[in-house]
Order: sequence, then C-alpha cells, then structure tokens
Amino acid sequence: MSIHDRPARNGPSRRRALGAALALAAFPAAAADVSLRRLAADKGLWFGAAVEPQHLRQDAAYAELVRRQCAVLTPENALKWDHLRPAPDKFDFQGADAIVRQARAQGARVHGHCLVWHEALPRWMPPTLTASEAEALLAGHISQVAGRYAGRIASWDVVNEPIERAHGRPDGLRRSPWFEALGPDFIELSLRLARRADPRARLAIADYGLEYDDVPWMVEKRASTLALLAHLKRRGAPLDAFAIQGHLLGDRGPAFGAGLRGFLRDLARLGLEVWVTELDVLDTPMPADPVTRDAQVAEIYGAFLRTVLAEPAVRMVNTWGLSDRYTSKSFLHPRPDRQPVRPLPFDAELQPKPAAQALAAAFRSARRR
Ligand code: G3I
Repeated sequence: MSIHDRPARNGPSRRRALGAALALAAFPAAAADVSLRRLAADKGLWFGAAVEPQHLRQDAAYAELVRRQCAVLTPENALKWDHLRPAPDKFDFQGADAIVRQARAQGARVHGHCLVWHEALPRWMPPTLTASEAEALLAGHISQVAGRYAGRIASWDVVNEPIERAHGRPDGLRRSPWFEALGPDFIELSLRLARRADPRARLAIADYGLEYDDVPWMVEKRASTLALLAHLKRRGAPLDAFAIQGHLLGDRGPAFGAGLRGFLRDLARLGLEVWVTELDVLDTPMPADPVTRDAQVAEIYGAFLRTVLAEPAVRMVNTWGLSDRYTSKSFLHPRPDRQPVRPLPFDAELQPKPAAQALAAAFRSARRR
C-alpha cells in the first residue's frame, strides 16, 4: 500500500455501517455508531490509534472496535528497543508482527513508532556510548527493523523527541545518548539509514510540546523544531513529514490559534506533511464528575482538530489509544482522587464519548485533501 493512496473506507463493514446507521437513526447522536476511519477517509485523511498486541489478542470486543474505527495502527510500545531487543544479538518481533498482521486483516496501514528515541532503551545498553558503538547500534537496528517491515510499515517516526530546550543548547537539541555519542548528525544519519532500509516508507521526525500558543516554552520549541527541519531539508535528508504528537492539556483553555496555524504552515512550506500521531487529552486535573470531564475533553479535541485540519498539509490523525479501557495515562498520569482517567474518544465500555463526536464533527467539517 503506498502512502499516497487515498485512505480506504472500511470495505467489509461498509454495508454493516450503513445498516447500523439506518437502525440507529432513531437514537440520539451520541449513541450512533460513528466510524472515525470512514469519516476521515471521506476527506482524504487517515485516522488511527496506538495499540498494544496483547489487548488485541485478549479482548475481542476491543479488537472489533479497533477494526471498525482505525485505518492506521501504531504499535504503542511493540516497536521500541526495550520490547524488540531482549539482548544485544536477539530481536523479538512477536508483538510488532501481531499488529502488522491485524492491520493487514482489517485493511489498515501501520505507522511505525519509533526507530530512535532516548527512552525505552534496553537494560543491556550502556548509558554512554562511543561514536562507533552508537553508529553500529543505529545502523544495525534501523536496517533490521525497518528492513524487516519494508513494504508493510507505511510510515515511521524515525527520530522521536529530538528537541529539549531545557538542556540548554542554542539549537535546542536534546542531549540524548545518541546525541552525546554522535552529535546533531545522528538525526540525519538515522533518516538516511531508514530510507535505505525501506525506500517506500514515509519518514518523520516526531515531537511533543508544540501545540499551545500561550505556553512560552512551546512557542520557543516550535522555532527550534523549524530550524532543525529546515537544516535537514537543506542537507537533502530524506524527510517527508513532521509528526506533532498532540498530547493536549486539561488544565488550560484550548488556546490553539494563529501561532499553531503559522507553525503548521511553516512545516508545509518546508515541503513536509504533518501527522498528528499521539492525540489525547490529559484529564487528570479536570473535575471528577465524568459528564463534565467528558464535555471538557471533547471541547479540547474539537478546538485542536478544527485548527489543525484547516491546514491541508495535515494528513493523518492518530489517537494514543482508542478506549479509556487501555491508556498509559492511567499509570503515567493517574488522578489524585483515583478516579479512572478518561482521555480517549471511547470509554472503558467501548462506547463513543463526546470526544468521539468531536472527532467525527471535525472530520465532517474538514476540507477534502
Ligand atoms: O511490557 C511490560 C510488561 O511486560 C511489564 O510487566 C510491565 C511492568 O511495569 O511493564 C510493561 O512495559 C511498560 C509499557 O509501557 C507497557 O505497558 C513499561 O514499563 C512502561 O514504561 C511503558 O510506558 C510507555 C511509555 O511510552 C514509555 O515507553 C507507555 O505505555 C506509552 O504510552 C508511552 O508512549 C509515549 C510515546 O512513546 C512517546 N510520546 C509520549 C508517550 C507517553 O505519553
């Protein structure tokens, strides 16, 4: 499947979806069987979510929801070094293979996350590396992993989260183990290795903390990001897209405005597509009442998507999980009151929440790509 293909509607389920739509016509909109993949595909957009292989394997109802909703599956953890590489000379592809198989079965593509990151590194990897060790590790890993999935993983976050302004460098680059060993060139090297391993895959750099116009460090981070991307483009590095993660905050209003639009336009001017790859809303600081919380979360999803989908370079929207039944927010950002978190479009009973309706509305009103 070429990344240039128009996202396919969920073929086998179209008739069923039509039947369901007719059957549900008498029910309130919130109960309707939304298909986010179909609504997105109608506008030439890809919609998908991050998934874990064990959830797809063990939970048939959840797997069915993923099948109905997702035209893209992103392995949430299965392609990270700590999952893939139990020992220096051993790869374990079982989890990633299962997701790739599931994607094929449901007519979805796979977005690969991620080839190079400073986190989720295996315990056997030394904390500091020499330049030649780092280069050999990157070359071996990228050729093995991107090479194995050549033609089956449509797109990659090649380098994840390379910017960290708090590390104090004028260029804003993060002092990751890869950076410490190889300097800024590890980014271009990684992109070139990925292109060589799979010339058809579309390649991105991904980062977070770029979404809000009213958070000064995010505004500064946009500038560092653009400078890095412009440098890579000037160098002729193989880079097709920028992936804005989209981890949205629950403790402030949805300040997505001219600054974010301008950032996206600047990315487009560099010749890049823009992918939203990890969309969710942090509801940890929100009121306990689930109805109020769901409404606030939905408002944030809607405001963000209305802003970003106005930019034609945005071609893919992935949520970081699909249902509140499985979300890393539950252990990364638990609520102080111990209420379950509700950051995703579908609730823990797999029912669409107002957030799903907000996504649906944003796709319906988006311009066709
Ligand atoms: O798989 C092991 C399991 O075998 C073990 O029993 C269990 C015990 O703690 O740990 C499991 O691994 C955990 C894994 O999530 C799966 O649940 C890791 O400890 C835990 O660190 C890991 O957290 C992930 C985190 O990245 C670090 O890799 C989250 O699920 C994942 O959602 C999060 O995703 C990141 C993106 O990759 C990059 N952007 C930010 C995002 C977090 O919001």
